[in-house]
Amino acid sequence: MSDDELNPLMATNPRHIAIIMDGNGRWAQKRFMPRAFGHQAGVKAVRKIVEYCALQKVEVLTLFAFSSENWRRPEDEVSMLMGLFLATLQTEINKLDRNNIRLRFIGDRSAFSESLQSKMAEGEAQTQGNDALTLVIAANYGGRWDMCQACQQILDKMATGGLPQQAITEELIAQHLSTTDLPEPDLYIRTGGEQRVSNFMLWQLAYTEMYFTPTLWPDFDEQSLEAAIVSFKSRQRRFGHTGEQILNKSVTL
Ligand code: IPE
Ligand code: IPE
Ligand code: MG
Repeated sequence: MSDDELNPLMATNPRHIAIIMDGNGRWAQKRFMPRAFGHQAGVKAVRKIVEYCALQKVEVLTLFAFSSENWRRPEDEVSMLMGLFLATLQTEINKLDRNNIRLRFIGDRSAFSESLQSKMAEGEAQTQGNDALTLVIAANYGGRWDMCQACQQILDKMATGGLPQQAITEELIAQHLSTTDLPEPDLYIRTGGEQRVSNFMLWQLAYTEMYFTPTLWPDFDEQSLEAAIVSFKSRQRRFGHTGEQILNKSVTL
């Protein structure tokens, strides 16, 4: 008997989990160490969570690695993060590929160094045909940037006469976002205790279940993720319907 049959209130497993990995700096500071130490520990947590999601057959895992606002940090932290990003890609791409994981990036990559951009492109190309977990790394990503670039693409099509004004629908906008071919996130997790969205997937989070935990990202492990999934599965998603409609299964979601 499936979970659904056991308890009609119980949601299915999340297909897409999106995480704001926050708290690296505070994790290091608590240990009287430089913030860089926390970011390095954060990479270890990423490995664990990616492996666990692949094992659990999650379809898509999106990790917010660097926001469009993170350039505002001190220069030495930004360049440390860029170095860590490149070094991590250099060691991890082959491992991801061996594990049948497809790597994708969302965000404005034009601001990154040539070497980083080419490593990103290489990682995507090498893992393109993989069909276990899709790992999406949001780098120089902002929800507002995503909406702007979608508008630009749509306006270009209108200017060249390819698209009438009435064609602008929610579906059309979604098709031009960087997440176009991905399901919307079912579960959004933010570690580190802050309860905000920080310009993450503003459009895509419209009906996502939110889970906030004080656990700092380097301490977030398989059990922590399992707790978030258990919380997700105990919720009734209604998408505007009534609870009764959902219980009677009189609507298809
Ligand atoms: C998240 O951890 C990682 C990045 C934003 C790159 P922080 O660096 O924001 O850690 P805190 O919030 O300062 O503890
Ligand atoms: C959000 O964390 C971005 C990432 C985790 C990459 P921040 O630490 O930058 O968010 P704020 O500034 O506290 O809102
Ligand atoms: Mg932070």
